[in-house]
Parts: sequence; C-alpha cells; structure tokens
Amino acid sequence: MRNLIEDESRNQFTVYAHRGASEYCPENTMLSFYTGVFMGAQGIETDVHRTKDGVLVLFHDDTVERMMHRPGSVEDYTLEELSVFVMEKCGRRDYIVTLDAFLSAFGRMDLTLAIELKDHDIEQDVADMIRRFGLEKKVVVTSFRLDYLKNMHVIAPELELGYLAKSNAINDDLLSDMKANGIVELCPYSRDVLPENTRYWHSRGFRIRAWGVSNEEDMRRVYDNGADGTTVNFPDKLLAYIEQKKA
Ligand code: G3P
Ligand code: CA
Repeated sequence: MRNLIEDESRNQFTVYAHRGASEYCPENTMLSFYTGVFMGAQGIETDVHRTKDGVLVLFHDDTVERMMHRPGSVEDYTLEELSVFVMEKCGRRDYIVTLDAFLSAFGRMDLTLAIELKDHDIEQDVADMIRRFGLEKKVVVTSFRLDYLKNMHVIAPELELGYLAKSNAINDDLLSDMKANGIVELCPYSRDVLPENTRYWHSRGFRIRAWGVSNEEDMRRVYDNGADGTTVNFPDKLLAYIEQKKA
C-alpha cells in the first residue's frame, strides 16, 4: 500500500529510541541510549524523577522494584544509594544516569531529546538544566500531565512541549487547551494513529509523535498513517522498515 503521505513530501520522520534501545538493554541507561544512537535513531526519549537528595535522574517507574529489585521509589533513595543498584536486560547490565550526565553526553550529538516529566515540581530544575547546556532547540519536554506542561510553559516559554494523550482522549477541547498553552506536539497512543486522525491533527497545526508502540504492527501503523515520529523500543526494526519503504 502507498504511504498516505509520500516520502518525498512528508515531514522528516523522527525515530526516538524509547528509554534508549530498551528492547535490548536495561532501559534509561547509558548502554541503552548509546545502543539506540548506534542503531541510527534520530532521537532519544527518557523519563525524569528526583532523588531523595534532589538530583534529577532518568527513571521510568513509580517504584524501583521492577528495575532494581528494591522496595520504594527513586524519591526514597539518594543518588549515591541508587548508583550501586544494578539494572539488567538481556544479560546486559548498567546503572542509573543523571539528567546532567545525559545532557552532557547526548546534547552535543545531532539528536532530538524527548524528556518526560515523571515527577512533580521538577519543571524549574529541568528547565534550568536544559538552559545551562544551551539545549533549548534540541529538546522536547513531554508529559501525560497537562498541569506540568502548563507550568513548564510559564517557566520556560522557549521550550517545545509535547502532550502524551492516553488512548481515545484527544478531542477539540484538549487541542484548544494545548494551543492556548504553547504545546506544539501531540503524542497520541499508537493505536489512535489513524489516517483521518493524523490529517485532522495536522490541520490543527500539531506535530504528531506517537507513543506506545509495542510490536511491529504498531510500528508500521504509526509510520504509514502519517505521524511525524514515534518512540520505539526497537529503533533498528523501524529504521529498517523506513529504509525498505523508501527503496
Ligand atoms: O513515548 C512516550 C512514552 O515514553 C510514554 O509512555 O510509559 O513509556 O513513559 P511511558
Ligand atoms: Ca516516557
């Protein structure tokens, strides 16, 4: 089937390594991020929490149980304590990363960095750090929480913001609210990325970056149905699919 938007006319599609190449490596670690970049991803997506001693670190879950096999949450531990907890996937092991170290390593590369706010009251510190590294033009700050994004727009109006919408949650009121608060990127659930939806969301002026790609069918759907990018745990497979579509 022909792409709905032909390759030559469509916007540049951005493949974000989701928590790095998290299909193959412990998520949100340097190993995972570098693997995604090595595979050819044009962006990296990651999640930010704050430790007990106030350090911004990259971690997805509300608790550390799944990844670190310890009780409690990131907020219950200092950075020093968290730094010795090993995370493992596919026999590969690595450790927690600070936002500072991440921006220092990847801010200099030709990548877009999607930084998701997972914790409350971190907007100011995240904005300050992005500014300190001079990465205002390379970052999209995202969240499932509109209130976090609205705060961020007030704190740092120069930053691009993306709203992660839960399945079937996108309607005209939401789009108007996003517009009014400087949110330029709509992040729909991958299964909501249908041709009629992307046409409409584009007509409302949003960039569309999908989330929740969990298999190759989802991956093909978001590309074929006109999104401008997606997060994906297996960037190698999506990049190969795009190459094959272009050939
Ligand atoms: O692509 C954004 C995606 O990361 C949102 O879901 O649960 O992985 O943070 P989650
Ligand atoms: Ca995320």
